[in-house]
Amino acid sequence: MTHQLLSIFCALLSSTITHAQAPLTAKCNDFNSSATISPRPGVNATLASDIAVALNFERSNWATGSVAEDLFYQVPSNASNATAGSLLKLEVHTNTSLYTIPPTTALSRFLFQTVDFNGSAQPASAYILWPYSPRTLADGTFPVVAFAHGTSGIYGEAAPSHIRNLWYHFITPFILALQGYVVVAPDYLGLGVTKDAAGKHISHPYLASTSHANDLFYSVQAAQSAFPKLSKQFVVLGHSQGGIAAWGAAQRQAETPVEGYLGSIAASPVGNLLDVFEGAGEPKSGAQFGNVIVDAIAGIYPDFNRETSLTTLGLQRLQVNQEIQGVQSVQLVLWPASDAALLVKDYWWRNDQFYAFNNVSSIGGKPIAGPMLVLQGDSDTAAPIQGTLSAINKTCTLYPNSQVELQVYQGVDHVPTMYASQQSWLRWIEDRFAGKAVKNTSCGSMGNSTSAMDYRFSQQQPSWYLEYRTQDYETA
Ligand SMILES: *[C@@H]1O[C@H](CO)[C@@H](O)[C@H](O)[C@H]1NC(C)=O
Ligand SMILES: *[C@@H]1O[C@H](CO)[C@@H](O)[C@H](O)[C@H]1NC(C)=O
Ligand SMILES: *[C@@H]1O[C@H](CO)[C@@H](O)[C@H](O)[C@H]1NC(C)=O
Ligand SMILES: *[C@@H]1O[C@H](CO)[C@@H](O)[C@H](O)[C@H]1NC(C)=O
Ligand SMILES: *[C@@H]1O[C@H](CO)[C@@H](O)[C@H](O)[C@H]1NC(C)=O
Ligand SMILES: *[C@@H]1O[C@H](CO)[C@@H](O)[C@H](O)[C@H]1NC(C)=O
Ligand SMILES: *[C@@H]1O[C@H](CO)[C@@H](O)[C@H](O)[C@H]1NC(C)=O
Ligand SMILES: *[C@@H]1O[C@H](CO)[C@@H](O)[C@H](O)[C@H]1NC(C)=O
Ligand SMILES: *[C@@H]1O[C@H](CO)[C@@H](O)[C@H](O)[C@H]1NC(C)=O
Ligand SMILES: *[C@@H]1O[C@H](CO)[C@@H](O)[C@H](O)[C@H]1NC(C)=O
Repeated sequence: MTHQLLSIFCALLSSTITHAQAPLTAKCNDFNSSATISPRPGVNATLASDIAVALNFERSNWATGSVAEDLFYQVPSNASNATAGSLLKLEVHTNTSLYTIPPTTALSRFLFQTVDFNGSAQPASAYILWPYSPRTLADGTFPVVAFAHGTSGIYGEAAPSHIRNLWYHFITPFILALQGYVVVAPDYLGLGVTKDAAGKHISHPYLASTSHANDLFYSVQAAQSAFPKLSKQFVVLGHSQGGIAAWGAAQRQAETPVEGYLGSIAASPVGNLLDVFEGAGEPKSGAQFGNVIVDAIAGIYPDFNRETSLTTLGLQRLQVNQEIQGVQSVQLVLWPASDAALLVKDYWWRNDQFYAFNNVSSIGGKPIAGPMLVLQGDSDTAAPIQGTLSAINKTCTLYPNSQVELQVYQGVDHVPTMYASQQSWLRWIEDRFAGKAVKNTSCGSMGNSTSAMDYRFSQQQPSWYLEYRTQDYETA
């Protein structure tokens, strides 16, 4: 994946990703998908062809085919009355031959019962990435890190558990496993599993910290019941959408304490969406997320009309995507930053449903429990540092005893923050499992890191993506 594909938040990198003038072309000639898209209102021939290239690329990155066809994602018929945190289905040994996970690691997948935005029990999916040589705690169990991924899309096909590189690859889960942690990673509600036991559609409540936090705690509980070798203690780590999830986990822990929770690391966590959109002082603020946020809100509030927020062109584009269920790659082509202002109405977020959603789901200004480390690049074009500083400030003003520590990385953008901060998060996780207390510093105390070398000469964005190997000569 290029950095552009790692998160649609990266669509905000509008200065570097302008919509291609020339039609997109496929880089390889062996896509495992050959869908075509016909032009239609709102989608001219060039765009239709571009969407197809992106769609075939992302479909070629599926390890186990479409989630709509993979029986694993079908919920057992007796699941509807299962209590939250229960295991609904377990695939102990996932066949890794079509994944691009690191050599020596292993994969399991499972379905578990979680709780949605409105408090109803719902099924969801998750993966476990296993190290060859796990660390062990004093009681002989393997330490668990609950991992919350960044934006992959809002339809079922965006589930990391069916993507060859698990979506966040060496950004986080591969590193954790190679360092001896067992990674438990929910796909999030609505990604992977899209129908409940009764066949009713489940939508993804994109950016709802409360719902994502439920997914983290309940997937860990279900994984622990499936594998007694897993530690009761766990640390939460998330980036971007997952940074919101991790912060949400710390807020949830203040309300509903869970034994074994050791703390959260929230990287590039965006902040309170309303504050971020209003704070930008622009009528089209956040337009890049218009379709995904609008769809998430419509999934929660059935009386919400998408026309409130989207233009006719925006609705036409959304309709195409609903039809093809495009996610990460398609999003960047179908809803490019350069076009986004044409796709949403002015102040598209100013409606009662968004306000209600944001009230419940926002991070910052709410109590948190346990220690929290926040990681943030000061040159983050997708989740600007102001949103993070404001969320910390609100939290520390209202709850000054909160254990929040911030580490800033000068010059560093959104996804690269996870690379620049790798030692910090690994050390922090190690310290929590070792039972070390966090430093008793004031709430929101900040460290500010610089690059050892003049950062202008460093690799500032990923210049590669992971590709599946099909021929013996494909080495290095
Ligand atoms: C087709 O649509 C794209 C995306 O809106 C636009 O950039 C491009 O100029 C259009 N091409 C033509 C020939 O109208
Ligand atoms: C291509 O996709 C099909 C259907 O999803 C799947 O069965 C097959 O294993 C895939 N092949 C490769 C090389 O990914
Ligand atoms: C779930 O519980 C309800 C009421 O307790 C019962 O009517 C229903 O049959 C149960 N469903 C399943 C699938 O067990
Ligand atoms: C559903 O049925 C399976 C197989 O009979 C059983 O193992 C499982 O415990 C049941 N699950 C629930 C939630 O009742
Ligand atoms: C995994 O799937 C591949 C391709 O279908 C098959 O050749 C291989 O035997 C399977 N591996 C195991 C361990 O079952
Ligand atoms: C969720 O709750 C809201 C009120 O808080 C309600 O308007 C909405 O209909 C509920 N959605 C679903 C899917 O039950
Ligand atoms: C959101 O919360 C604020 C402050 O608690 C409250 O005044 C407002 O009515 C809430 N808005 C909605 C739509 O729930
Ligand atoms: C923090 O919030 C307070 C009031 O809520 C405000 O006066 C102060 O300027 C804020 N500080 C920063 C650094 O944003
Ligand atoms: C942290 O320090 C403050 C004052 O500096 C003190 O009041 C508080 O009790 C200390 N907390 C812990 C957990 O040691
Ligand atoms: C970090 O330090 C640099 C100076 O080295 C300063 O310009 C910058 O504002 C600091 N960042 C923050 C978030 O305070």
